Amino acid sequence: MATPPPSPSPRRARIAGAGHHLPDRVVTNADLGPLLDTTDAWIRRRTGIERRHFVDGTEGTADLAHKASLRALDDAGIGPDQIDLIIFATLSPDVFFPGSGVLLGALLGIPGTPALDVRNQCTGFLYGLQCADGMLRAGLYERILLVGAEVHSTGLDFSREGRDIAVLFGDGAGAVVLEAAEDGSGVLRTILGADGRHAEALWCQAPSSRQFPLRITRDDLDHKRHFPAMQGRMVFKHAVVAMRDAVRAVAAAEGVALDEVDLFIPHQANLRISELVQRELGVPPERFFNNIARTGNTTAATLPIAIDECRRSGRLKAGDLLCTVAFGSGFTWGSSLIRI
Ligand code: COA
Repeated sequence: MATPPPSPSPRRARIAGAGHHLPDRVVTNADLGPLLDTTDAWIRRRTGIERRHFVDGTEGTADLAHKASLRALDDAGIGPDQIDLIIFATLSPDVFFPGSGVLLGALLGIPGTPALDVRNQCTGFLYGLQCADGMLRAGLYERILLVGAEVHSTGLDFSREGRDIAVLFGDGAGAVVLEAAEDGSGVLRTILGADGRHAEALWCQAPSSRQFPLRITRDDLDHKRHFPAMQGRMVFKHAVVAMRDAVRAVAAAEGVALDEVDLFIPHQANLRISELVQRELGVPPERFFNNIARTGNTTAATLPIAIDECRRSGRLKAGDLLCTVAFGSGFTWGSSLIRI
């Protein structure tokens, strides 16, 4: 009896190229010390961060994204005109509106290409990834440029009052070119979650369109409502549990054992969070990637920056199984299994 040909793998979003860009200006913990009444030792011990990159006035969020995107397109071996859709994840858009996706489209010189902005903070890349994967599976598009980019440094309180948050964040951008593939590679599954009951545990209150009659006032500035505010310990505890459970859930849904995963890339919020998640999952530290010491928390840019670093350094190779996981303001969280 003739053996039937193997059934084709399902259509999925495959990472065809990746790129990232960090601004040139490096700011060390020692640089922040005099401004924030903090020390290098405190920041390293509590967060694992040693330095981060900040813009210098020459680049905005879309500019960072543009540079990362050009690298990702080059890596994929295609031009901007071969992109069918831009998905742009950021919590620090260039302006209140329009979204940074359209600005990126203009910088790339692809007028007419649709652009979707995603506002899911540190989980933004995974929300964008699930959207892109679903659209590619449905056959709506062939290639999607998914970008995460942030300029935090122009929105932080660099005084003693703001030191709990100001030490954590860095600027940067990462991008991936996703293309429809039927060779078994690509996004196996992404799971997402959100719980808006905790929105105020990590948020930026102003400007606020629900504030009447003006969305930003002198009083907002005097009370620093235009800076992010965070209940650090509460965020920390929720992050560990949500990230651990998200990894377990995506692995269980896909029938994958954690020791089959070649590399875990967790969102880089705090090295202590990542270490606790790694220990609770029982995964050896060498399979848990961290770059927070060099970058700080770059929010939606974190995962694509890390994916690009791992691809270029050889830590991620064709055929590897990657698990990404994130948690952030909202609260939002998610995890994804990707066959490279
Ligand atoms: N330098 C020196 N001291 C600092 C400081 C800093 N940068 N930030 C806070 N402190 C001080 C506080 O003033 C407080 O002093 P006090 O006891 O005299 O009042 C003390 O440290 C403890 O403050 P607390 O906020 O309870 O610290 P913590 O142990 O929770 O650590 C974080 C603070 C921000 C490092 C920690 O809460 C954290 O990482 N949370 C999660 C943050 C996160 O990941 N956010 C993004 C999620 S995507």
